[in-house]
Amino acid sequence: MYQIIYLSKANSNLTQEDIDNILQTAREFNATKQISGCLIYHNHYFLQMLEGNIDDISELYKNITKDPRHSDIKLLFESTKFDRSFGEWKMGFVDLNCQDDIEQKMFVDNLLTFAEITPKFTKSMDIFWDEVKNLLTTK
Ligand SMILES: Cc1cc2nc3c(=O)[nH]c(=O)nc-3n(C[C@H](O)[C@H](O)[C@H](O)COP(=O)(O)O)c2cc1C
Repeated sequence: MYQIIYLSKANSNLTQEDIDNILQTAREFNATKQISGCLIYHNHYFLQMLEGNIDDISELYKNITKDPRHSDIKLLFESTKFDRSFGEWKMGFVDLNCQDDIEQKMFVDNLLTFAEITPKFTKSMDIFWDEVKNLLTTK
């Protein structure tokens, strides 16, 4: 199992329809390749985690980096791991702009800042994705 996490800046003209389209494509395609993961949209940034077969993930990531709906794509983390974190989700989605929980927003803000300055942050990442899973399951 191979996992990547990247951060990108959403195109300033991005619409809700764009996001819906991204999710639809992701869910359809990822299911055919047993790719799971989660996409977070926050403050005009995307944070996405993808997990699956290394060749499939590498090919998909290459495709995603060419997508004009975002830019400044930065690979934060890549690793091989034993099992999936998001096995139940072809592509879980959290729109933190719609959540009124200040603490969650601050948590992501802090994480993104942290990601900018820290090359590897495995432990914090695990905690972070657990938090994200809580958001998904309580929705
Ligand atoms: C933030 C973001 C995340 C994306 N995530 C996925 C994904 O998980 N799976 C997927 O198939 N496409 C995803 N896409 C869409 C791809 O960039 C691309 O449009 C898709 O692979 C179809 O490519 P094609 O038109 O060359 O066939 C994402 C796009 C963006 C902007």
